[in-house]
Amino acid sequence: MKSNNPEATLVETYFENKYEIVSGKLSEEEELYKENILDHYKNPHNKRKISHCTFNHKDFNPLCGDEITLFIKTEQGKIIDAAFEGNGCAISQASASMLTDHIKKMSLEQAKQLGPWDIFNLLGIRISHTRSKCALLCLKTLQEGIKEAKL
Ligand code: FES
Repeated sequence: MKSNNPEATLVETYFENKYEIVSGKLSEEEELYKENILDHYKNPHNKRKISHCTFNHKDFNPLCGDEITLFIKTEQGKIIDAAFEGNGCAISQASASMLTDHIKKMSLEQAKQLGPWDIFNLLGIRISHTRSKCALLCLKTLQEGIKEAKL
């Protein structure tokens, strides 16, 4: 349901008229995080293929069709490069941009331990229940990719 809160309207507009990204007025800190999300969406980091990657994995959100393909390159159990390709809403694409930055130089063991709260912390903004699937698409793609690659 679309909010009548004028502060929320701005956020909703940015996020492609998909409602309830956040509800209510944003705190000053959340405003900064919102700007950061939009920046990752408009200028995504690591949006490319990695040729000769250790594994890649594609996943999508069946509800909306948004998709992410992750490319991971490892060396001696460490992630030395991470990149993605994809299409979709600001939250799904910004999360993938942030996650690929975040996991570089992590061990695979550390990456396996990542959970939803790590993604929510990277985003730094209240995400509604409906949008949490958008936020977690990249994490699901990573975890299934690691599992499938049997690493
Ligand atoms: Fe599809 Fe966000 S609307 S993942």
